[in-house]
Amino acid sequence: MNKRGDAIVLIGFMGAGKSSVGRTLARITGLSRFDTDEMVAARFDLTIPEIFASHGEETFREAETAALRELSGKGQMIVVTGGGIILRGENVALLHELGTIVYLLADEETLFARISRRSTRPLLQTSNPRATLTELLATRLPFYREAADVEVDTSRLKHDEVARTILNRIEEHGGSRMHSQG
Ligand code: S3P
Repeated sequence: MNKRGDAIVLIGFMGAGKSSVGRTLARITGLSRFDTDEMVAARFDLTIPEIFASHGEETFREAETAALRELSGKGQMIVVTGGGIILRGENVALLHELGTIVYLLADEETLFARISRRSTRPLLQTSNPRATLTELLATRLPFYREAADVEVDTSRLKHDEVARTILNRIEEHGGSRMHSQG
């Protein structure tokens, strides 16, 4: 396996808290934050639902992989990913090279409650989003687990509690030389 980098990489299902926790981690550590969804949206100058609608999911997935390649070699940073990033083996290999992979999880009820607050997830615009969530989660769970170095349940924690837990776990895991500044 290639050398592991010093980034903190957040993976997990939609609604797991990756974006908010990524922002909190960037604030605490002072590190730069890169969000693959934001990178892809900027590349097309469109929102994620617009990219899915006008270019299709496959084009989105290609751009997601391209965004990860761009991050290679950037060193210490916080990387926030979209929930489907683990579906491609190539992506998982790229994430491993970037640094320590942190899987943010939450129970299904919590995920659904969080996701339902916004309609920005094209994959859940179905006639039964709750059932779609259950199906997608079942398919993806083994991929998240397999990719993860560290797992944190966000269901009952505030964003800054999740961030502190991540930093402690990474310290224990010995996968990064990260030091928090606050
Ligand atoms: C997706 C999750 C989204 C976004 C896109 C596809 C997925 O990101 O990348 O809608 O396949 O789970 P979030 O996990 O930030 O919602």
